[in-house]
Amino acid sequence: MTIQERPIFRPLTVRNVSLRNRIVMAPMTRTASPGGIPSEPMAAYYRRRAEHGVGLIVSEGIGIDHPTALGVGSLGEGNMPELHGDAALARWREIVEGVHQAGGVIFPQLWHQGVIRTHNTGPHPEYMSSRPSGLWGPQGGYTTAPQPYLDQMLPPTTPMTDEEIVDVIAAFARSAANARDVGFDGIAIHGAHGYLPDSFFWHETNRREDRWGGRTLKERARFGAEVVKAIRAEVGDLPIMFRFSQWKTQDYDARLAQTPDELGDLLGALADAGVDIFDASTRYYHHPAFEGSPLTLAGWARKLTGLPTMAVGGIGLQNELKNSFAGEVDAVNNVPDVEARIAAGEFDLVGVGRSLISDPAWAEKVQAGEPFLPFHPRVLASVD
Ligand SMILES: Cc1cc2nc3c(=O)[nH]c(=O)nc-3n(C[C@H](O)[C@H](O)[C@H](O)COP(=O)(O)O)c2cc1C
Repeated sequence: MTIQERPIFRPLTVRNVSLRNRIVMAPMTRTASPGGIPSEPMAAYYRRRAEHGVGLIVSEGIGIDHPTALGVGSLGEGNMPELHGDAALARWREIVEGVHQAGGVIFPQLWHQGVIRTHNTGPHPEYMSSRPSGLWGPQGGYTTAPQPYLDQMLPPTTPMTDEEIVDVIAAFARSAANARDVGFDGIAIHGAHGYLPDSFFWHETNRREDRWGGRTLKERARFGAEVVKAIRAEVGDLPIMFRFSQWKTQDYDARLAQTPDELGDLLGALADAGVDIFDASTRYYHHPAFEGSPLTLAGWARKLTGLPTMAVGGIGLQNELKNSFAGEVDAVNNVPDVEARIAAGEFDLVGVGRSLISDPAWAEKVQAGEPFLPFHPRVLASVD
C-alpha cells in the first residue's frame, strides 16, 4: 500500500479546505500567552507540527471577545490567549502564516470558560463568571478539581440574563470575524467539557425555562446552535468544527445524551445551524458510546449526521488524559486499529493530543512505522 492509500494519509476536503491527511493536532491549552498575547515560541511550536506533516492544527482554546458593556469575561487565570486586540491578532497572523508556509491548515478553538472560569480571575477580575442557571454543577462528581476551587464555585450565583446571552453570542461572532481576518482556515468551537456552550446543553447546569433552556436536549441545543449561526454569518464558506463531549470537568462520568436519539437531537440542531465537522471528545477513542452497540461516540456522530467526524483520546498512548498528569504514560501503537475504523467509515479524522506535544514528528513516525515516544507531564513546562 502506498502512503496515500493508507486510510490515515488519505486527503480530505471540507468545504473549500483540503487537508493533506487525517491527523489533527487536538486543541491544547499551553498557558504561554501573558496578557492574552501568544508568546513568540508559540509561532515556532505550531509551525513545527505543520512542518512535520500534521494535516490540521486546532489551536489551544482562545478566549472570545467578551466582556462588553454588559461585563463578564471568557477566561480566568492562566496566561491563555485571546483573539482580539492588535498585539494578539498580529501574533496570530504570524502563527497562521508560519503554518501555511509549512503546508498546514489551522483553525482557532473559540473558547468561553463560562461556569468553569474561576470567579474574579483572568483579564477581567472585576466580574463573576457566566452561568446559564447560576450553577457550577452537581456536588460529588468524579472530578480532579481541588477543594478550595469547589468551595468557591459550588455556591449558586445569578443566572445570565437574556441580554447577556445574546451579548456572548455576538462575542463569539466577533472573534470568528477576527479569525477570518488574520487568515485562519476554519473555526473550531469549544462546546465540550462543561464550558459555556456545554453548560447550556447539560441538564445539571441549565435549569432555565425560557428559550435558552427546556427539558429536552433538543431545546437546550439552542444556545450552541445560535453561536454556530452567528459564526456562519461572519465566516462565509470557512468550515466550522464543533467539539462536544459526554464527560465534564465537573464530572468525568457525566452523560449529556442518554441515548443515540438524544445525541441525534443535539447534533442535528448543530448541523442544521451550520456545523461541518464534529469533534467527539472522549477519554478513550475506542470505547463504545452506548450500551448494546460497539460504535464509538465519533462513530455515532457520523452515523447520525452524515458529516465528517473526529475521534480523539489515547491515540498513540496507553492511558487517558485524566491519569496523565501524575507520571509517565507509555506509548502504544494503536494506529492499525484507528486506520481500520477510518477504512470502515466509522470516523474520518484522528485527534492527537499529548503524543503531539511529546513529539512534533509523530505523523512522520506513523508514516515510517517507527516507535512513538511516551508522554511525560514535564514536557508541558516549556513550549517547543
Ligand atoms: C495540556 C493539555 C491541554 C488541553 N487543553 C485543551 C483545550 O484548550 N481545549 C480542548 O478542547 N481540549 C483540551 N485538551 C484536551 C485535548 O484536546 C484532548 O482531547 C485530550 O488530551 C485527549 O487526547 P490525547 O489522549 O491524545 O491527549 C487538553 C489536553 C492537554 C493534555
